[in-house]
Amino acid sequence: MNNNIYSVFDKILGRKEKELFLGQGGCVLWFTGLSGAGKTTIACCVERELASRGILTQVLDGDNIRSGLNKNLHFDLESRMENIRRIAEVSKLFVNCGVVTLNCFISPERDMRKMARDIIGENDFFEIYVDASLEMCEIRDIKGLYRKARAGEIPNFTGIHQEYEEPENPAIHLRTDIESLESCVKTVVDIVVPKIKAVL
Ligand code: ADX
Repeated sequence: MNNNIYSVFDKILGRKEKELFLGQGGCVLWFTGLSGAGKTTIACCVERELASRGILTQVLDGDNIRSGLNKNLHFDLESRMENIRRIAEVSKLFVNCGVVTLNCFISPERDMRKMARDIIGENDFFEIYVDASLEMCEIRDIKGLYRKARAGEIPNFTGIHQEYEEPENPAIHLRTDIESLESCVKTVVDIVVPKIKAVL
């Protein structure tokens, strides 16, 4: 820890003032699941639903964060941990501005998601398990990455070379292999909107 760093947190406008300004409470909706399970697809639809109710949001997902902020990181477990740590810190900044942050990251290990929860804070962290079987994600293979991973062209691929640890007690569990997109979106919206509005 550098002792020459001086905090300005007591000088900047506080979270509560910003939340009142926006008319909403900040929180993080943390979508976790295999690549191709539907995390970003659902989050983008949820974002539109929230926007139509006047709620300000920010979607963060693996492909966009990894092409900017985290472009120096790979997919070994240590890099994934650092990926999630940085994202959690960034999300905390958004939450402190009262913004509802929709995070779409495989975040394959329970320890990684616990770290994110610890950084963001228990009360502001909603784990949403976007559940589709590996078989289903491989059949969909929307980005063609499973085929490449099976062919040995991509190392450390989640579900093939590395395990995905299912959440034990997610706030919301969506089954995208048996539920429609509309139904998944409605489930999330119905649960989170009252919480977002409850802080006022
Ligand atoms: S995480 O495990 O660190 O949370 P993240 O969600 O950021 O992963 O990135 C996952 C996305 O990166 C996938 O949706 C896929 O498009 C791409 N990707 C590239 N290589 C891999 C890999 N080895 N394992 C999983 N996803 C990969």
